[in-house]
Amino acid sequence: MRPSEHAYIPREALGIMTARTLENSHPCLLGLLEPGMAVLDVGCGPGTLTMEIARRVDPGGVVGMDVNPEMIAAAEEASPPGEIPNLVFYKGDVCQSGWEAEFDLVNAARVLQWIADAEAALRAMARAARPGGLVVVLDVDHTRAEWSRPPAAWSRFYQAFLEWRTAGRLDNAIITRLPRMCETAGLADIRTTPLIRTVRAGEAAFLRVAGTWRLVADSRGRQMVAAGHLGEAERRAALEAFTEWMQTEDATQTIHEACVAARRPAAARR
Ligand SMILES: C[S@@+](CC[C@H](N)C(=O)[O-])C[C@H]1O[C@@H](n2cnc3c(N)ncnc32)[C@H](O)[C@@H]1O
Repeated sequence: MRPSEHAYIPREALGIMTARTLENSHPCLLGLLEPGMAVLDVGCGPGTLTMEIARRVDPGGVVGMDVNPEMIAAAEEASPPGEIPNLVFYKGDVCQSGWEAEFDLVNAARVLQWIADAEAALRAMARAARPGGLVVVLDVDHTRAEWSRPPAAWSRFYQAFLEWRTAGRLDNAIITRLPRMCETAGLADIRTTPLIRTVRAGEAAFLRVAGTWRLVADSRGRQMVAAGHLGEAERRAALEAFTEWMQTEDATQTIHEACVAARRPAAARR
């Protein structure tokens, strides 16, 4: 089964995810991982963060799962089965997963934003955590992204991006709803850490963060064109204008993410 159109990330976009480390893209998780923990990484993509998780919790067992078989193939290319003894990957949809109280920590980084029924995904994650275990969700508020003096072609692209997502029943500001969603899923001790970051031209992080959006225009942009939210000429114009913008000396970009960590109550309420 191929994932739904919005969840499907084309291979050209892999570079967005393989440039990530826990330190540069999921710092909250760093403080929560401990050796010996059993961890489920939902929407593991090409497994870059999952492999780091496996190193940090060794000898605890880590499972990376993703709905997209191409992502699992990429993860298994990066870490062939058995190479990291405490790590396995498998293809599956978190909403259909049947894990029950198996993990000390269940993580999903930048995944729920791509799932129309994010509540069902969170409920499945809560069930997968053992009583007393943690559920950790890192996600984004696309409605608050900012670029300094963005070219008109880029603003047009980004507006189409938001509309394309809304048409796919995806929540552009999912982080604002996550704490409530955790409560509804029966989770407790809900802690939200806002992660607001401005990157500036000249910084290494700028190339990674702003470069991500170049890749979005190059990969997801084609899906937006196919779905009728943007013309191909507009997509190309956005890509060109954004590439030029990235080279301006005083360019800045601000991203709004948040990490929500919550606990499955020791005496399950569900
Ligand atoms: C933006 S990527 C994030 C990858 C990785 N967690 C990271 O932070 O680099 C989102 C991933 O979620 C996966 N995904 C989307 N819907 C899913 C679902 N229902 N079940 C499992 N994985 C899903 C996608 O295939 C994609 O690999």
